Amino acid sequence: QTAREMIQEIKCRRDISIEQLEYLLTTENKDCLEMLREEAVQTAQKIYGNQVFIRGLIEFTNYCKNDCYYCGIRRSNHCADRYRLTKEEILSCTDTGYKLGFRTFVLQGGEDPYFTDERICELVSEIRQKHPDCAITLSIGEKSKESYQRYFDAGADRYLLRHETANGTHYRRLHPDELSLEHRKQCLWDLKEIGYQVGCGFMVGSPGQTTETLYEDLQFIRKLMPHMVGIGPFIPQKDTPFAREPAGTMEQTLRLLSIIRLIHPHVLLPATTALGTIHPKGRELGIQSGANVVMPNLSPVDVRDKYKLYDNKICTGDEAAECRFCMENRMKSIGYQVVVSRGDYI
Ligand code: 5AD
Ligand code: FES
Repeated sequence: QTAREMIQEIKCRRDISIEQLEYLLTTENKDCLEMLREEAVQTAQKIYGNQVFIRGLIEFTNYCKNDCYYCGIRRSNHCADRYRLTKEEILSCTDTGYKLGFRTFVLQGGEDPYFTDERICELVSEIRQKHPDCAITLSIGEKSKESYQRYFDAGADRYLLRHETANGTHYRRLHPDELSLEHRKQCLWDLKEIGYQVGCGFMVGSPGQTTETLYEDLQFIRKLMPHMVGIGPFIPQKDTPFAREPAGTMEQTLRLLSIIRLIHPHVLLPATTALGTIHPKGRELGIQSGANVVMPNLSPVDVRDKYKLYDNKICTGDEAAECRFCMENRMKSIGYQVVVSRGDYI
């Protein structure tokens, strides 16, 4: 099979074999890699044109009851400088964001018991009332189906919960025993059943990841058919058990973005902050590999550098407006237009 035939086959079947995956992740054949990227970009453009959607990310708490080995805000990290935003501070972020043209807000935080269902619902319904034309995305971890239903009824419409890896053994390498892959997957199915637009995803190059585990990730994506898939390189954080593990690479992340675009053409696929962190042009290259979403930060500048999932995170000193216009210019520079809309799945 030639490289061209392989890429056409993946595109037509919307599936990939483990051998094809192995080849695409390891080949140094420049023509093949170029073809992969071009096919992914064409696929995205056929559906979404040259538009890139922006989401305003509000990191509203870095308290977390979990202890994931990779994450800088894990409960055992006593170096983390903890903060939580008040409801007023969060609403002021969405106001600022609205004026800057954001029509989607992503409320992301650690699993912080202070934010009870009641507090989350109150927050969501106030944002919903103030901005009826906006999409409200939650990214606050594993909850019961009842809780997810309550947030949904309060006005949340999307939920991001990366599955992290679809392989049970790999999942246990990344998390303490108190967390389980089965429960995490169940959460994603529950969210979907309730009617959320759902996003799963994983880190590229996390310790213990192999072609086999990535293959399982792709098969899980094919089965779940999420509206969004978030992937970015693993980046070690110095106060975690994975401090000395090597980071994932930009090259692997870009290849996987293209592959995901080919097997799931309509998916909303962000060029993540982590990708922008490992390379100054990471986000642009992500878009040029098939991504179609960027998520600039709207969190207040005085807490930005505290939401440290990994080291050297970008944009920690920039105001919301700076990131907004920076992003617009970055996208313009590669021929894309940032759009002011909810940016729904087509
Ligand atoms: N490097 C890259 N991504 C990370 N995340 C958490 N820690 C790291 C890290 N060290 C990702 C996880 C999580 C998302 C919010 O951030 O995939 O789901
Ligand atoms: Fe934040 Fe460029 S996107 S400064």
